[in-house]
Order: sequence, then C-alpha cells, then structure tokens
Amino acid sequence: MKGKPIISIVGTGYVGLTSAAVLANAGFKVFAVDVDSKKIEAIKQGRSHFFEGGLDSFVSKGVDSGNLIPTLAFEEGIPQSDIVFSCVGTPDKADGSPNLEYIYSAAESIAKNAKNGIIIVQKSTVPVGTGRKLIEHISKIAPKLQYSYVSNPEFLREGSALFDTLNMDRVVVGSDDKAALDRVVEVFTAVNDFAHSVDYSEFNDYRLNNVAKIAPFSEIPFVERTFKMRLESAELVKVSANAFLALKISFANSIAKLAEKTDADIVEVMNGVGSDFRIGRAFLYAGLGWGGGCFPKDVSGLISVAKSYGVSLPIMSAAVEENQSMVNHVVRKIKDSNGGISGMNIAVLGLSFKPGTSDVRKSQSIKLVNKLFEEGAVVKAFDPQAMEEAKESLNGNVKLTGSIAECVKDSDAVVIATDWNEFKEHDWKSEKINIRGDIFVDARNCLNARDLIEAGFEYMGIGR
Ligand code: UGA
Repeated sequence: MKGKPIISIVGTGYVGLTSAAVLANAGFKVFAVDVDSKKIEAIKQGRSHFFEGGLDSFVSKGVDSGNLIPTLAFEEGIPQSDIVFSCVGTPDKADGSPNLEYIYSAAESIAKNAKNGIIIVQKSTVPVGTGRKLIEHISKIAPKLQYSYVSNPEFLREGSALFDTLNMDRVVVGSDDKAALDRVVEVFTAVNDFAHSVDYSEFNDYRLNNVAKIAPFSEIPFVERTFKMRLESAELVKVSANAFLALKISFANSIAKLAEKTDADIVEVMNGVGSDFRIGRAFLYAGLGWGGGCFPKDVSGLISVAKSYGVSLPIMSAAVEENQSMVNHVVRKIKDSNGGISGMNIAVLGLSFKPGTSDVRKSQSIKLVNKLFEEGAVVKAFDPQAMEEAKESLNGNVKLTGSIAECVKDSDAVVIATDWNEFKEHDWKSEKINIRGDIFVDARNCLNARDLIEAGFEYMGIGR
C-alpha cells in the first residue's frame, strides 16, 4: 500500500458519517456505504440524515470535492479500498446483550469484496472477544483473503461528533498486526494535522463551549494520545470507558438524593469533589440520568458479557438501578409539592437524551413524559430538534407543541428534562405571567435557582 489509502466506511450513522465526512475533507477518497437508500440519498444531496452541529457543511464539501462517495453498493468501493472502517449499529437485545447481526453481515460483505492486504477496522462498539470470533468467521467466508483486523473504538459524543472526530482526546487501536496498527494511526495523524486548519465558528456553540472547558488534551502531542494495544484490550477500553462515565453520573445522582435531605447543594458538592484531579469534574452533573444510544446499551452489554464469562458486576447493576430511579424521583418531587399529580397540566421541555442532538434513544426525558402521563397528568412537550423522532416513543395523548411559550402556557408545573440552551436562555421572568402554577423542576440543574425564585417560581433542582 503506497501513498494515501483509499477508505471505505460501512454504516453512515453518527460514527460512520462523521468519520467519512472528516476523512474526505482531510483529503482521503472515502466511499460511504449503507444499505439504507434514504440515508445514501441524503448524503448524495450533501447533507446528513440526522441533526449534528456542523456536519451538513462537512458532508456537502466532501461530496462536492468528489472525495466523499456515498453508495449502496459494497462492490463499488470495497474492492479498491486499502482500509475499511465498519461503523454499523449494535442495538441491544431484550436480554441486554448486544445484537451483532449487522456486525457479522457487514464483515461478510466486506470480506466477499475486499482485495488482499485490506485492513478491516472495527469502529462499532462490540463486546470483548468479538474481534477474535469475527477473524475466524471471515477466514471461513473468504479463506484466500489476506487481511488484517484492527479494533479502533470510537469515543465521539453526539452533539459534538464533528468536533470530537477532529480533536481526538485519544486514539485506541488493538490488533495482532503491528504494521496494520501503524497504518491506521497514520490516517488519524493526518486527521489531527487537518484539524488545525478547520474553522470552528460554524460548530454548535453549546457543545463546543462545553468541550473546550474539559478538553485540555490539545496541548498533549498526538503521539502521546495514541495507544496501541492487544485486540481484546482495545475492545474492553471502549465499553469500560462508557461504563465508568455512567457510573460517575449515577454516583452524582445518589449523592444528590442525600444532598436533598441534608440541605447540601449537589452542584457545590461536586465542584468540590471534582476539583480533585484524580476524580475530575466532568460527568458528575446530577440530573434526570443518562440515556442515548450508547450508555444504556454498553452498560447492559458489559453486564451480560461479563456474566457469560462467569464474572458479576454488581457495581454496574447498581448504576443502572440508580439511573432508573431518577424518573420516579422527579415525579415524586412534583407529587409532593402539589399534593398529587392526577389532572395536573405539566409542561415538559426537552425530549432528546441530551442537548445538541435529535436522538431520543433511551431518553430519560421521554420516559419522564410517559410516566407523568401514566400518573394521570395532562402533558405538553416541546423540543427544539427532536419532535419528529419523539413521536414514535411518546404516549399518543401527549401534546407536542411548537414553542416554549406554547408548551408552558397555562401549565401547573414546568419541567426542564433536557438542558438545551434555548431553555437556559429563555426569559422565565416575563414568561411567568402565562404559567398558571409555581412549580418549576429543573431536572438538569441547568438554570440559576435564584433567578427562578425571584421570578416567582417554586424552584426544585436535583440534589439542591
Ligand atoms: C457517550 C460517550 O460520552 C462517548 O465518549 C462515546 O463515544 C459514546 O457514548 C459512544 O459510545 O458512542 P453520548 O452517548 O453521545 O456519548 O452522550 P454523553 O455526552 O456521554 O451523555 C450521555 C448521557 O449522560 C446523556 O443523557 C447526558 O444527559 C447524561 N449526562 C452526562 C448526565 O446526566 N450528567 C453528566 O454529568 C454527563
């Protein structure tokens, strides 16, 4: 393999499309392969099929330059590719274990079309041990194919996917083949070099500000952020990292409950705790809990895979339990404050699992809306981006509204379920006159309590 490798990316979700767009803008020829014609059609038109700040412009520049080639056909790009990144989804099964069906079918399609010398890079999150099984499987399907297999877990966050892909806090690669590891690292080194020339002004401000505060790694030389390791180690890094972050949030939420009983304020507590450099402030923000397409799946997957090896992880089961309790915790707050919930008009602001994304997978906010409805409340909801996506998972009787003002009008209680900037910046003092009741639950601790109290609300946060 000489010069710049030709790359294929299989799967155009958050990871696949963002990686493809970045690599194409960094000068690589990239085939973006997906079996879903709607997704490929959107990319051909120069846009992403999901909302992610700044991504559309990267996709359109990539397509216009001819470097980003969206295709439904494995036969088009794979035979020319030197490196293929597999970025397909791994949804969880009913028992909590990950469904690896798409991983296997992608590997088969790659193996059938690949040329000798190809490097197959697994970016999808898979249970430890999957790579080894896939290597065996590929060798059965394409016994003559000479290839290398590399695990390269992805750490980007939705809502700042593009920024994270350009500014990698670390690159983790694992394989038996050292030369393949070097080759994959070369690709990311090129991305890191390209990242210096990017104009970040078009990125989603909220996430960028947040990232900038907690991402001092740009000072660290790229080589020191690159970790080459065993295949199985790389696989385990990814799920362990997500599990630990989920654990941190659940820990903060547990302490928040104690803070509520003792007059302590969880934000002050975690400011103090998190300033210990060994602990760190990030992911100690108490609130409604964690959701999304990754944490819930990865934590339950880790528990179930560990079990299959005869290892129990009670610490992670406790984190899940703690997380599940947060929806009821908020419902109870409203109940206690109002003396019951049935018949109350409640406005819920935020449906996505976090701000900056339209993704509602395993969203705690959606669970809260449905729970309030079940308890007999009349629920209205609003989200700046996720209304379409939310429809399917919401109870049909929940009224979706077109704005914050419409949502909160005449309500007895307002709940902030997702910490979108729009809600933080809203003029709650002027809005108060349109709201019937006083109850204001800031379930993401994202507003200034004093401002709300001065505006005439009975402010309740989580752990404060
Ligand atoms: C997560 C990881 O942060 C990424 O590093 C990883 O690459 C990704 O999963 C993945 O496996 O693909 P993401 O799911 O986009 O990223 O979301 P996060 O920003 O981690 O937030 C997860 C949930 O935790 C959200 O519901 C958020 O509201 C909640 N959260 C986060 C808190 O409740 N408190 C906090 O302090 C931080």
